[in-house]
Amino acid sequence: MAGKTLQKIISSPKQLVGEIAVPGDKSISHRALIFNSLSLGSSKISNLSPGKDCVSTINCLKALGVKLEKQKDKPSDMLLHGASGTGLTEAKDILNAGNSGTTMRLLSGVLVSQPFLSILTGDSSLRSRPMKRLVEPLRLMGAEIYGRDDDSFAPLVIRGKKLAGVDYTLPVPSAQIKSAILLAGLFAQGNTGVKQPQPSRDHTERLLKLMGAKIEIETHHVSLTPLSVPLVAVDIRVPGDISSAAYWLVAGAIHQNARIRIVNCGVNPTRTGIIDVLSAMGAKLRLENQRLEGNEPVADLCVESSRLKAIEIGGAIIPRLIDEIPLLAVAACVAQGKTVIRDAGELRVKESDRIVTTIRELSRLGARIEELSDGMVIHGDRALRGAEVKSHADHRLAMSLAVAGLIARGKTSIQNARVAEISNPNFWKELGGLARY
Ligand code: S3P
Repeated sequence: MAGKTLQKIISSPKQLVGEIAVPGDKSISHRALIFNSLSLGSSKISNLSPGKDCVSTINCLKALGVKLEKQKDKPSDMLLHGASGTGLTEAKDILNAGNSGTTMRLLSGVLVSQPFLSILTGDSSLRSRPMKRLVEPLRLMGAEIYGRDDDSFAPLVIRGKKLAGVDYTLPVPSAQIKSAILLAGLFAQGNTGVKQPQPSRDHTERLLKLMGAKIEIETHHVSLTPLSVPLVAVDIRVPGDISSAAYWLVAGAIHQNARIRIVNCGVNPTRTGIIDVLSAMGAKLRLENQRLEGNEPVADLCVESSRLKAIEIGGAIIPRLIDEIPLLAVAACVAQGKTVIRDAGELRVKESDRIVTTIRELSRLGARIEELSDGMVIHGDRALRGAEVKSHADHRLAMSLAVAGLIARGKTSIQNARVAEISNPNFWKELGGLARY
Protein backbone atom coordinates (compact mmCIF):
# COMPACT_ATOMS: atom_id res chain seq x y z
CA MET A 1 0.00 0.00 0.00
CA ALA A 2 2.99 2.30 -0.16
CA GLY A 3 4.64 4.67 -2.60
CA LYS A 4 3.68 4.86 -6.25
CA THR A 5 2.17 1.40 -6.25
CA LEU A 6 -0.68 2.18 -3.85
CA GLN A 7 -3.41 -0.26 -4.71
CA LYS A 8 -7.07 0.53 -4.15
CA ILE A 9 -9.71 -2.11 -3.81
CA ILE A 10 -13.22 -1.06 -4.73
CA SER A 11 -16.45 -2.95 -4.37
CA SER A 12 -20.00 -1.93 -5.13
CA PRO A 13 -21.71 -0.05 -2.26
CA LYS A 14 -25.39 -0.46 -1.43
CA GLN A 15 -25.83 3.26 -1.88
CA LEU A 16 -23.99 6.33 -3.19
CA VAL A 17 -25.36 9.41 -1.46
CA GLY A 18 -24.32 12.80 -0.28
CA GLU A 19 -23.29 16.35 -1.06
CA ILE A 20 -19.69 17.21 -1.93
CA ALA A 21 -17.58 20.06 -3.21
CA VAL A 22 -14.86 18.88 -5.59
CA PRO A 23 -11.49 20.73 -5.57
CA GLY A 24 -10.85 23.83 -7.65
CA ASP A 25 -10.65 23.52 -11.43
CA LYS A 26 -7.19 22.46 -12.59
CA SER A 27 -7.24 24.39 -15.88
CA ILE A 28 -8.39 27.61 -14.22
CA SER A 29 -5.91 27.17 -11.34
CA HIS A 30 -2.92 26.97 -13.71
CA ARG A 31 -4.09 30.10 -15.48
CA ALA A 32 -4.87 32.04 -12.29
CA LEU A 33 -1.33 31.29 -11.07
CA ILE A 34 0.51 32.02 -14.31
CA PHE A 35 -1.41 35.12 -15.37
CA ASN A 36 -1.32 36.72 -11.92
CA SER A 37 2.42 36.05 -11.86
CA LEU A 38 2.73 38.32 -14.90
CA SER A 39 0.58 41.06 -13.38
CA LEU A 40 1.28 44.20 -11.45
CA GLY A 41 0.09 43.86 -7.85
CA SER A 42 -0.88 41.13 -5.45
CA SER A 43 -3.74 38.70 -5.72
CA LYS A 44 -5.45 36.10 -3.60
CA ILE A 45 -6.37 32.87 -5.34
CA SER A 46 -8.72 30.73 -3.32
CA ASN A 47 -9.88 27.16 -3.79
CA LEU A 48 -6.82 26.38 -5.93
CA SER A 49 -6.59 22.86 -7.33
CA PRO A 50 -4.55 20.76 -4.87
CA GLY A 51 -3.52 18.44 -7.73
CA LYS A 52 0.13 17.67 -8.34
CA ASP A 53 -0.08 19.31 -11.76
CA CYS A 54 -0.74 22.69 -10.15
CA VAL A 55 2.07 22.07 -7.66
CA SER A 56 4.32 21.72 -10.73
CA THR A 57 3.16 25.12 -11.98
CA ILE A 58 3.73 26.68 -8.54
CA ASN A 59 7.26 25.25 -8.32
CA CYS A 60 8.16 26.49 -11.81
CA LEU A 61 6.83 29.98 -11.05
CA LYS A 62 8.81 30.08 -7.79
CA ALA A 63 11.94 29.09 -9.72
CA LEU A 64 11.22 32.05 -12.04
CA GLY A 65 11.25 34.44 -9.09
CA VAL A 66 7.51 34.73 -8.38
CA LYS A 67 6.58 35.12 -4.71
CA LEU A 68 3.77 32.79 -3.70
CA GLU A 69 2.57 32.25 -0.15
CA LYS A 70 0.24 29.49 0.93
CA GLN A 71 -2.28 30.71 3.53
CA LYS A 72 -1.46 28.81 6.74
CA ASP A 73 -5.06 28.34 7.85
CA LYS A 74 -6.25 27.37 4.34
CA PRO A 75 -3.74 25.53 2.13
CA SER A 76 -6.05 25.86 -0.91
CA ASP A 77 -5.66 29.65 -0.75
CA MET A 78 -2.57 31.40 -2.09
CA LEU A 79 -1.28 34.95 -1.95
CA LEU A 80 0.68 35.84 -5.07
CA HIS A 81 2.85 38.87 -5.80
CA GLY A 82 2.93 39.59 -9.54
CA ALA A 83 6.36 39.95 -11.12
CA SER A 84 5.41 42.63 -13.61
CA GLY A 85 7.20 45.33 -11.61
CA THR A 86 10.53 43.49 -11.61
CA GLY A 87 9.91 40.87 -14.29
CA LEU A 88 10.41 37.12 -14.17
CA THR A 89 14.00 36.04 -13.52
CA GLU A 90 16.07 33.28 -15.10
CA ALA A 91 15.64 29.98 -13.27
CA LYS A 92 18.86 28.55 -11.84
CA ASP A 93 17.94 25.05 -12.90
CA ILE A 94 15.79 23.09 -15.32
CA LEU A 95 12.06 23.75 -14.85
CA ASN A 96 10.21 20.54 -14.14
CA ALA A 97 6.57 20.39 -15.28
CA GLY A 98 6.15 16.85 -13.91
CA ASN A 99 3.14 15.19 -15.55
CA SER A 100 1.52 18.48 -16.56
CA GLY A 101 1.09 19.36 -20.23
CA THR A 102 -0.65 22.60 -19.28
CA THR A 103 2.34 23.73 -17.18
CA MET A 104 4.82 23.01 -19.95
CA ARG A 105 2.85 24.48 -22.82
CA LEU A 106 1.51 27.60 -21.12
CA LEU A 107 4.83 28.44 -19.51
CA SER A 108 6.59 28.02 -22.86
CA GLY A 109 4.21 30.64 -24.26
CA VAL A 110 5.37 33.01 -21.53
CA LEU A 111 9.07 32.18 -21.57
CA VAL A 112 9.61 32.70 -25.32
CA SER A 113 9.40 36.47 -24.72
CA GLN A 114 11.41 36.66 -21.49
CA PRO A 115 15.02 37.88 -21.84
CA PHE A 116 16.74 34.75 -20.53
CA LEU A 117 17.30 31.04 -21.08
CA SER A 118 14.81 28.41 -19.90
CA ILE A 119 14.91 24.64 -20.08
CA LEU A 120 11.71 22.70 -19.41
CA THR A 121 11.34 19.00 -18.79
CA GLY A 122 8.77 16.62 -17.33
CA ASP A 123 8.19 13.01 -16.32
CA SER A 124 8.44 10.18 -18.85
CA SER A 125 4.79 10.57 -19.89
CA LEU A 126 5.13 14.30 -20.56
CA ARG A 127 8.44 13.77 -22.36
CA SER A 128 6.63 11.50 -24.82
CA ARG A 129 3.79 13.94 -25.59
CA PRO A 130 3.85 16.02 -28.80
CA MET A 131 5.55 19.42 -28.61
CA LYS A 132 6.02 20.23 -32.31
CA ARG A 133 2.48 21.60 -32.28
CA LEU A 134 3.74 24.12 -29.70
CA VAL A 135 7.15 24.84 -31.26
CA GLU A 136 5.76 25.53 -34.75
CA PRO A 137 3.43 28.49 -34.02
CA LEU A 138 5.84 30.01 -31.50
CA ARG A 139 8.63 29.87 -34.11
CA LEU A 140 6.36 31.69 -36.56
CA MET A 141 6.32 34.49 -33.99
CA GLY A 142 10.12 34.56 -34.01
CA ALA A 143 10.64 32.43 -30.91
CA GLU A 144 13.84 30.52 -30.32
CA ILE A 145 12.55 27.22 -28.96
CA TYR A 146 13.95 23.75 -29.52
CA GLY A 147 12.89 20.27 -28.52
CA ARG A 148 14.35 16.81 -28.58
CA ASP A 149 14.02 14.66 -31.71
CA ASP A 150 13.65 17.46 -34.25
CA ASP A 151 11.48 19.57 -31.90
CA SER A 152 9.02 16.75 -31.30
CA PHE A 153 9.44 16.29 -27.55
CA ALA A 154 10.58 17.84 -24.28
CA PRO A 155 13.02 18.74 -22.85
CA LEU A 156 12.49 22.12 -24.46
CA VAL A 157 15.11 24.85 -24.60
CA ILE A 158 13.98 28.44 -24.94
CA ARG A 159 16.07 31.58 -25.44
CA GLY A 160 13.65 34.49 -24.89
CA LYS A 161 13.45 37.01 -27.74
CA LYS A 162 11.43 39.89 -29.13
CA LEU A 163 8.45 38.39 -30.90
CA ALA A 164 6.02 39.43 -33.61
CA GLY A 165 2.28 38.76 -33.58
CA VAL A 166 0.94 35.95 -35.73
CA ASP A 167 -2.26 34.84 -37.42
CA TYR A 168 -2.51 31.14 -36.80
CA THR A 169 -5.07 28.45 -37.49
CA LEU A 170 -4.91 25.64 -34.94
CA PRO A 171 -4.49 22.30 -36.70
CA VAL A 172 -5.71 20.47 -33.57
CA PRO A 173 -8.31 21.73 -31.10
CA SER A 174 -5.94 22.37 -28.19
CA ALA A 175 -6.55 24.96 -25.50
CA GLN A 176 -2.95 24.55 -24.34
CA ILE A 177 -1.54 25.55 -27.72
CA LYS A 178 -4.09 28.35 -28.14
CA SER A 179 -3.14 29.68 -24.70
CA ALA A 180 0.60 29.48 -25.40
CA ILE A 181 0.18 31.56 -28.58
CA LEU A 182 -1.99 34.14 -26.80
CA LEU A 183 0.49 34.42 -23.92
CA ALA A 184 3.34 34.95 -26.38
CA GLY A 185 1.15 37.48 -28.19
CA LEU A 186 0.76 39.57 -25.03
CA PHE A 187 4.45 40.50 -25.22
CA ALA A 188 4.86 40.56 -29.04
CA GLN A 189 4.84 43.44 -31.48
CA GLY A 190 1.64 43.58 -33.48
CA ASN A 191 -1.64 41.79 -33.01
CA THR A 192 -2.09 38.04 -32.69
CA GLY A 193 -5.06 36.10 -34.05
CA VAL A 194 -5.85 32.45 -33.37
CA LYS A 195 -8.45 30.69 -35.48
CA GLN A 196 -9.95 27.58 -33.92
CA PRO A 197 -12.02 25.48 -36.31
CA GLN A 198 -13.19 23.52 -33.24
CA PRO A 199 -13.54 25.66 -30.10
CA SER A 200 -11.69 24.41 -27.03
CA ARG A 201 -11.85 25.55 -23.39
CA ASP A 202 -11.74 29.35 -23.14
CA HIS A 203 -10.48 29.97 -19.59
CA THR A 204 -7.43 31.83 -20.92
CA GLU A 205 -9.54 34.25 -22.93
CA ARG A 206 -11.95 34.88 -20.03
CA LEU A 207 -9.23 35.49 -17.48
CA LEU A 208 -7.04 37.67 -19.71
CA LYS A 209 -10.10 39.83 -20.38
CA LEU A 210 -10.83 40.10 -16.67
CA MET A 211 -7.21 41.20 -16.11
CA GLY A 212 -7.50 44.03 -18.63
CA ALA A 213 -5.99 42.50 -21.79
CA LYS A 214 -7.42 43.76 -25.06
CA ILE A 215 -8.86 40.54 -26.38
CA GLU A 216 -11.76 39.87 -28.73
CA ILE A 217 -13.40 36.52 -28.32
CA GLU A 218 -15.53 34.89 -31.01
CA THR A 219 -16.51 31.25 -31.22
CA HIS A 220 -13.94 30.36 -33.86
CA HIS A 221 -11.47 33.23 -33.51
CA VAL A 222 -9.58 35.05 -30.78
CA SER A 223 -7.62 38.24 -31.42
CA LEU A 224 -5.33 39.97 -29.02
CA THR A 225 -3.50 43.31 -28.88
CA PRO A 226 -0.12 43.24 -27.09
CA LEU A 227 -0.07 44.67 -23.58
CA SER A 228 0.62 48.39 -23.36
CA VAL A 229 0.16 48.30 -19.58
CA PRO A 230 0.68 45.24 -17.34
CA LEU A 231 -2.13 42.83 -16.59
CA VAL A 232 -4.11 43.84 -13.49
CA ALA A 233 -3.83 41.35 -10.61
CA VAL A 234 -7.25 39.87 -9.75
CA ASP A 235 -8.49 37.91 -6.76
CA ILE A 236 -9.99 34.67 -7.98
CA ARG A 237 -12.13 32.05 -6.35
CA VAL A 238 -11.59 28.99 -8.52
CA PRO A 239 -14.83 27.08 -9.18
CA GLY A 240 -15.02 23.31 -8.58
CA ASP A 241 -13.51 21.22 -11.35
CA ILE A 242 -16.17 19.77 -13.64
CA SER A 243 -13.64 17.17 -14.79
CA SER A 244 -13.42 15.96 -11.16
CA ALA A 245 -17.19 16.25 -10.63
CA ALA A 246 -17.70 14.14 -13.75
CA TYR A 247 -16.70 10.94 -11.89
CA TRP A 248 -19.56 11.43 -9.45
CA LEU A 249 -21.99 12.43 -12.20
CA VAL A 250 -21.33 9.14 -13.98
CA ALA A 251 -21.17 7.10 -10.75
CA GLY A 252 -24.49 8.63 -9.64
CA ALA A 253 -26.13 7.95 -12.99
CA ILE A 254 -25.03 4.31 -13.33
CA HIS A 255 -25.27 3.10 -9.72
CA GLN A 256 -28.70 1.71 -8.99
CA ASN A 257 -29.18 3.46 -5.66
CA ALA A 258 -27.59 6.90 -5.90
CA ARG A 259 -28.35 10.53 -5.25
CA ILE A 260 -25.41 12.96 -5.32
CA ARG A 261 -25.15 16.74 -5.20
CA ILE A 262 -21.94 18.55 -6.19
CA VAL A 263 -21.86 22.18 -5.09
CA ASN A 264 -20.02 25.18 -6.58
CA CYS A 265 -18.93 23.47 -9.76
CA GLY A 266 -17.66 25.25 -12.87
CA VAL A 267 -20.06 24.88 -15.82
CA ASN A 268 -18.20 26.81 -18.51
CA PRO A 269 -19.93 25.79 -21.77
CA THR A 270 -16.57 24.80 -23.30
CA ARG A 271 -16.33 22.10 -20.57
CA THR A 272 -19.89 20.83 -20.19
CA GLY A 273 -19.86 18.20 -22.95
CA ILE A 274 -20.12 15.57 -20.21
CA ILE A 275 -23.40 17.09 -18.96
CA ASP A 276 -24.82 17.27 -22.49
CA VAL A 277 -23.86 13.68 -23.29
CA LEU A 278 -25.10 12.23 -20.00
CA SER A 279 -28.38 14.11 -20.41
CA ALA A 280 -28.73 12.83 -23.98
CA MET A 281 -28.10 9.31 -22.64
CA GLY A 282 -31.03 9.77 -20.29
CA ALA A 283 -29.26 10.67 -17.02
CA LYS A 284 -31.38 12.32 -14.35
CA LEU A 285 -29.15 15.34 -13.98
CA ARG A 286 -30.02 18.92 -12.97
CA LEU A 287 -28.15 22.20 -12.65
CA GLU A 288 -29.21 24.48 -9.78
CA ASN A 289 -28.13 27.93 -8.53
CA GLN A 290 -26.51 28.90 -11.84
CA ARG A 291 -24.37 32.04 -11.48
CA LEU A 292 -21.22 33.79 -12.75
CA GLU A 293 -18.10 33.96 -10.51
CA GLY A 294 -14.88 35.61 -11.71
CA ASN A 295 -16.18 35.58 -15.30
CA GLU A 296 -16.79 31.80 -15.10
CA PRO A 297 -20.25 30.13 -14.94
CA VAL A 298 -20.83 28.09 -11.76
CA ALA A 299 -23.71 25.84 -10.57
CA ASP A 300 -24.66 23.00 -8.24
CA LEU A 301 -25.08 19.64 -10.01
CA CYS A 302 -27.56 16.96 -8.90
CA VAL A 303 -27.64 13.44 -10.27
CA GLU A 304 -29.48 10.26 -9.40
CA SER A 305 -29.72 6.64 -10.55
CA SER A 306 -30.74 6.50 -14.19
CA ARG A 307 -31.22 4.04 -17.00
CA LEU A 308 -28.80 5.14 -19.72
CA LYS A 309 -29.06 4.53 -23.44
CA ALA A 310 -26.25 4.58 -25.98
CA ILE A 311 -25.60 7.56 -28.27
CA GLU A 312 -23.06 8.58 -30.91
CA ILE A 313 -20.44 11.08 -29.78
CA GLY A 314 -18.24 12.97 -32.24
CA GLY A 315 -17.50 16.29 -33.95
CA ALA A 316 -17.51 19.62 -32.17
CA ILE A 317 -18.49 18.18 -28.78
CA ILE A 318 -15.21 16.23 -28.46
CA PRO A 319 -13.01 19.12 -27.20
CA ARG A 320 -15.77 19.90 -24.67
CA LEU A 321 -15.40 16.47 -23.03
CA ILE A 322 -12.01 15.20 -24.15
CA ASP A 323 -10.79 14.45 -20.60
CA GLU A 324 -14.02 12.62 -19.74
CA ILE A 325 -13.95 10.02 -22.54
CA PRO A 326 -12.42 7.15 -20.49
CA LEU A 327 -15.18 7.81 -17.95
CA LEU A 328 -17.90 7.99 -20.61
CA ALA A 329 -16.68 4.61 -21.81
CA VAL A 330 -17.60 3.24 -18.36
CA ALA A 331 -21.11 4.69 -18.65
CA ALA A 332 -21.40 3.28 -22.18
CA CYS A 333 -20.60 -0.25 -20.93
CA VAL A 334 -23.86 -0.34 -18.98
CA ALA A 335 -25.97 1.82 -21.31
CA GLN A 336 -28.55 0.18 -23.53
CA GLY A 337 -27.15 -0.24 -27.03
CA LYS A 338 -23.92 0.55 -28.85
CA THR A 339 -22.06 3.79 -28.13
CA VAL A 340 -19.79 5.12 -30.87
CA ILE A 341 -17.07 7.68 -30.05
CA ARG A 342 -15.30 9.28 -33.02
CA ASP A 343 -13.07 12.28 -33.83
CA ALA A 344 -11.17 11.72 -30.58
CA GLY A 345 -7.71 10.87 -31.94
CA GLU A 346 -6.27 13.39 -29.44
CA LEU A 347 -6.85 10.72 -26.77
CA ARG A 348 -3.78 8.96 -28.09
CA VAL A 349 -1.48 11.78 -26.92
CA LYS A 350 -2.82 12.36 -23.42
CA GLU A 351 -1.16 11.11 -20.20
CA SER A 352 -1.50 7.64 -21.76
CA ASP A 353 -2.89 6.51 -25.13
CA ARG A 354 -6.37 6.63 -23.66
CA ILE A 355 -7.96 4.69 -26.50
CA VAL A 356 -5.64 1.75 -25.91
CA THR A 357 -5.50 1.92 -22.11
CA THR A 358 -9.24 2.44 -21.62
CA ILE A 359 -10.09 -0.52 -23.83
CA ARG A 360 -7.42 -2.75 -22.29
CA GLU A 361 -8.44 -2.11 -18.68
CA LEU A 362 -12.22 -2.01 -19.10
CA SER A 363 -11.98 -5.28 -21.04
CA ARG A 364 -10.49 -6.91 -17.93
CA LEU A 365 -13.75 -5.96 -16.17
CA GLY A 366 -15.82 -7.63 -18.88
CA ALA A 367 -16.39 -4.70 -21.25
CA ARG A 368 -16.74 -5.29 -24.99
CA ILE A 369 -15.09 -2.43 -26.85
CA GLU A 370 -13.70 -2.17 -30.38
CA GLU A 371 -10.87 0.20 -31.19
CA LEU A 372 -11.20 2.83 -33.91
CA SER A 373 -8.27 4.95 -35.08
CA ASP A 374 -10.02 8.01 -33.57
CA GLY A 375 -12.26 6.51 -30.93
CA MET A 376 -14.07 3.35 -29.92
CA VAL A 377 -17.29 1.39 -30.21
CA ILE A 378 -18.61 0.30 -26.84
CA HIS A 379 -21.17 -2.45 -26.60
CA GLY A 380 -23.58 -1.77 -23.75
CA ASP A 381 -25.73 -3.85 -21.42
CA ARG A 382 -22.62 -5.49 -19.94
CA ALA A 383 -22.53 -6.72 -16.37
CA LEU A 384 -19.05 -5.66 -15.26
CA ARG A 385 -17.18 -7.95 -12.85
CA GLY A 386 -14.31 -6.99 -10.58
CA ALA A 387 -10.74 -7.80 -11.62
CA GLU A 388 -7.20 -6.49 -11.22
CA VAL A 389 -6.64 -3.42 -13.40
CA LYS A 390 -3.82 -0.93 -14.03
CA SER A 391 -3.89 2.86 -14.11
CA HIS A 392 -1.01 3.13 -16.62
CA ALA A 393 0.10 6.10 -14.47
CA ASP A 394 -2.87 8.02 -15.87
CA HIS A 395 -4.98 9.83 -13.29
CA ARG A 396 -8.15 9.92 -15.37
CA LEU A 397 -7.95 6.21 -16.12
CA ALA A 398 -7.42 5.36 -12.41
CA MET A 399 -10.54 7.32 -11.42
CA SER A 400 -12.62 5.96 -14.32
CA LEU A 401 -11.73 2.41 -13.26
CA ALA A 402 -12.79 3.25 -9.70
CA VAL A 403 -16.21 4.32 -11.01
CA ALA A 404 -16.44 1.04 -12.93
CA GLY A 405 -15.53 -0.74 -9.66
CA LEU A 406 -18.50 0.93 -7.94
CA ILE A 407 -20.93 -1.01 -10.14
CA ALA A 408 -18.91 -4.17 -10.86
CA ARG A 409 -19.75 -7.47 -9.15
CA GLY A 410 -16.97 -8.47 -6.75
CA LYS A 411 -13.74 -6.63 -6.06
CA THR A 412 -11.87 -4.34 -8.45
CA SER A 413 -8.27 -3.79 -7.53
CA ILE A 414 -6.58 -0.77 -9.13
CA GLN A 415 -2.79 -0.70 -9.29
CA ASN A 416 -0.97 2.62 -8.94
CA ALA A 417 -4.18 4.31 -7.88
CA ARG A 418 -2.20 7.06 -6.15
CA VAL A 419 -1.86 8.76 -9.54
CA ALA A 420 -5.36 10.26 -9.00
CA GLU A 421 -3.50 12.95 -7.03
CA ILE A 422 -2.37 14.50 -10.34
CA SER A 423 -5.76 16.21 -10.54
CA ASN A 424 -7.60 15.26 -7.34
CA PRO A 425 -5.77 14.10 -4.20
CA ASN A 426 -9.19 14.03 -2.45
CA PHE A 427 -10.69 11.53 -4.89
CA TRP A 428 -10.49 8.43 -2.66
CA LYS A 429 -11.79 10.35 0.35
CA GLU A 430 -14.70 11.66 -1.73
CA LEU A 431 -15.48 8.08 -2.78
CA GLY A 432 -15.35 6.91 0.84
CA GLY A 433 -17.71 9.72 1.87
CA LEU A 434 -20.34 8.93 -0.75
CA ALA A 435 -20.31 5.11 -0.61
CA ARG A 436 -22.53 3.33 1.97
CA TYR A 437 -21.75 -0.38 2.29
C1 S3P B 1 -6.16 21.64 -20.90
C2 S3P B 1 -6.42 21.39 -22.22
C3 S3P B 1 -6.66 20.04 -22.77
C4 S3P B 1 -6.99 19.04 -21.66
C5 S3P B 1 -6.04 19.16 -20.50
C6 S3P B 1 -6.11 20.56 -19.90
C7 S3P B 1 -5.92 23.03 -20.48
O1 S3P B 1 -5.49 19.62 -23.43
O2 S3P B 1 -6.97 17.74 -22.19
O3 S3P B 1 -6.37 18.22 -19.52
O4 S3P B 1 -5.94 23.32 -19.27
O5 S3P B 1 -5.73 23.88 -21.36
P1 S3P B 1 -5.17 20.07 -24.95
O6 S3P B 1 -5.10 21.53 -24.99
O7 S3P B 1 -3.87 19.43 -25.31
O8 S3P B 1 -6.30 19.51 -25.76
